Amino acid sequence: MIRIDVELGARGYPIFIGQGLLADHSLLGRAVKTQQVMLVTNERVGPLYAGAIETAFQDRQLCRVTLPDGEAYKTLDSLSLIMTALLQNRFERGCTVVALGGGVVGDVAGFAAACYQRGVSFVQLPTTLLAQVDSAVGGKTAVNHPLGKNMIGAFHQPVAVVADLATLTTLDEREFRAGLAEVIKYGLLRDREFFDWLESNLDSLLAREVGALTHAVRRSCENKASVVGADEQESGERALLNLGHTFGHAIENVLGYGVWLHGEAVAAGLCMAAQISTLLGNIAPTTHDRIVQLVERAGLPTAAPEAASASALLAAMSVDKKNRGGRIRLVLLDAIGHASLREDYPHAALLEVLQPGAPPSGVATASGPPPA
Ligand code: NAD
Ligand code: GLY
Repeated sequence: MIRIDVELGARGYPIFIGQGLLADHSLLGRAVKTQQVMLVTNERVGPLYAGAIETAFQDRQLCRVTLPDGEAYKTLDSLSLIMTALLQNRFERGCTVVALGGGVVGDVAGFAAACYQRGVSFVQLPTTLLAQVDSAVGGKTAVNHPLGKNMIGAFHQPVAVVADLATLTTLDEREFRAGLAEVIKYGLLRDREFFDWLESNLDSLLAREVGALTHAVRRSCENKASVVGADEQESGERALLNLGHTFGHAIENVLGYGVWLHGEAVAAGLCMAAQISTLLGNIAPTTHDRIVQLVERAGLPTAAPEAASASALLAAMSVDKKNRGGRIRLVLLDAIGHASLREDYPHAALLEVLQPGAPPSGVATASGPPPA
């Protein structure tokens, strides 16, 4: 078992990564310290893994909330379901909310933990690749609003993250590939060596070989823990973790939440960020092509969807937490392994990138295949 610590003083916590961790009662018992345990999962993950958690906590007061499955249910209504369960079962401030599932369950359950009685303990048991490499770590919790993705939320750190790699065996192919977008993101924004490793090992990763998976989750969590430890509430460096997300969130919003998966939208967003970086002369066309080729090999979209107009995407991008004074700020690339937050780009370059499937001048690129 690998342990990575998120160094946040009194709010610091461990991330445990390994095979079969959900069957490790001793580990789960150390992660969840309270007598009252509210297990939040969804209708797909619950039947697969909730039984193991309930067995581990037979000696506690454990209740389960099962949310409907999907990004479309990352809503205030789902938050309300959790609140009702906490109140109906007389949960006190000294309880723990445990999220068992992907990023949707983790984000909603975490927000519930942040709000219930002004904040209770929270543990993340992520079961998707995306959640294990990104969303379970760092304490961002939220629900969506029809007008904007993740617009209602709070920072609320978990007290532990237990990432059982064995759960990834039941993840379907499309969801697994979507998680790779966030993995590639770390290489692009701050870890050139990891990007090189991904280029060499993508096939092993796609085959879900344990060694490759372990390295990818570990390296991703090390990167995320390092950024969060330095900038917990995104006053600086943490904004760089949003590489591809300003575009991606707009795609999700314009298409309707859940039409493209979050990771698919982020993948297209990574390529769009690379494209505008190329137009600005920050990265070479050959660098852009390397990025697009890796995203394409991962089976992910490389451009905005045909169904989303540039004007609709632009309108959605105007509702972004990084914006200042009405100006859309973008995370752009200076090289593979180096990114910066920018607002000094020409509007025309942004408009060019927002055209569905449009390659930058002089650069041969793939258009985004519609996800299956
Ligand atoms: P998800 O939570 O919708 O899970 C994807 C699908 O896989 C769902 O159908 C789910 O039920 C299913 N599933 C989960 N684990 C499974 C398993 N082991 N076996 C079989 N099926 C399983 O999506 P996601 O990609 O995990 O997360 C996306 C969400 O995460 C988005 O809402 C995004 O905004 C959020 N996010 C948050 C952060 C953060 O820092 N908080 C970071 C990145 C993404
Ligand atoms: N996923 C972006 C962040 O956690 O800051």
